[in-house]
Amino acid sequence: MLFDPIQIGTMTLRNRMMRSATAEVLADEQGTPFPQLSSMYAALAKGGVGLIVTGHMYVQASGKAHPGMTGIHDDACIEALATLADAVHAEGGKIAVQINHGGRQVREGLVADPIAPTAVDAKPPKPAAKEASIDEIEDLIDAYAQAARRGKRAGFDAVQIHAAHGYLVNQFLSPLANRRNDEWGGSFDHRLRFLERIAYAIRVEVGEEYPVLIKLGARDEADDGLCLDDGAEIIRRLPEMGIDAVEISGGIADSGAFNIGAGVEAGVNEATFRPWATRLRDAASLPVMLVGGMRSQAVMEDVLESGDADVISLCRPLICEPDLPLRLQKGIQDAAACVSKNRCWARKGDVGISCKCPGVVRVAA
Ligand SMILES: Cc1cc2nc3c(=O)[nH]c(=O)nc-3n(C[C@H](O)[C@H](O)[C@H](O)COP(=O)(O)O)c2cc1C
Repeated sequence: MLFDPIQIGTMTLRNRMMRSATAEVLADEQGTPFPQLSSMYAALAKGGVGLIVTGHMYVQASGKAHPGMTGIHDDACIEALATLADAVHAEGGKIAVQINHGGRQVREGLVADPIAPTAVDAKPPKPAAKEASIDEIEDLIDAYAQAARRGKRAGFDAVQIHAAHGYLVNQFLSPLANRRNDEWGGSFDHRLRFLERIAYAIRVEVGEEYPVLIKLGARDEADDGLCLDDGAEIIRRLPEMGIDAVEISGGIADSGAFNIGAGVEAGVNEATFRPWATRLRDAASLPVMLVGGMRSQAVMEDVLESGDADVISLCRPLICEPDLPLRLQKGIQDAAACVSKNRCWARKGDVGISCKCPGVVRVAA
């Protein structure tokens, strides 16, 4: 099934492998991408992956999470972003843009006045961000909608809302980060409102036909955090919000349970969130993408054939081998070379991310 096409809303993917959003750290201080980012996406498209999701892009200057993050916060960004979509289309690929706001989870000192649902500390410890006023919440919703409009204008095939990993939408959803007692916090319905309003506002901007995806932190993995039943209820409601597909992830910084597990080994401990997907599947009447620790073709096929997910989403394996889909399809290898030692991030002096793990063996094509 891995190499069968699939329909996501109005978009047809050539196969069921996607590159999950991966912050490339390839933009200048204004958030303008360096030419290397186009080359990275072109290599991924050439390597056969069905859908590329860009690294997260900030929808408002206050949401820039780390240096080198790409910006989609202003119409002036559109021209440079269009070069990214063009590079992928020239290789016959498809690309979605991931839109995000860091909220309280922004690198210290990077943003003048970090903003969050509530002024509670983030972990690892950061000074508490300021509680967003109602006007600021309305501005944030509009910032997501305008970012989606810019993504469509720039030629991306879809937009993905980042609602995982402790960033702003996840902060509103999570009772750990959202302690408000107005219409934006407290009950489940109130905590969901920010996401609902963003989804509706995006639809108004991009129209009925444009694919809108979400990456959802389906569970915080922390006491008193978002639990899997909450995750299921959010997924049940996504179609009403006009969302076309959900990528399942989880973990919030407060839980210390991060979404990027180290030490994944092919055939040993793959598919980190699969047990969740099995439980969430019943609630999902839209295509499900599963990310986290998929390494061997056998496990990817099994996930698809069991119905636990419709699309396999990969991050670290495609940093290591952008042409992994073609390698699997041609039978050059049956698993990713990635050893999940988490040395992908840019180190001081590096331009962008790259695979730096020791012990990686790449099979010659
Ligand atoms: C270098 C790096 C950057 C990442 N950047 C993002 C991002 O921008 N947005 C996002 O949703 N997830 C991001 N992630 C998480 C991945 O998309 C993915 O959920 C996680 O790595 C688990 O998948 P894997 O086991 O295939 O690597 C990043 C992960 C890594 C290693």
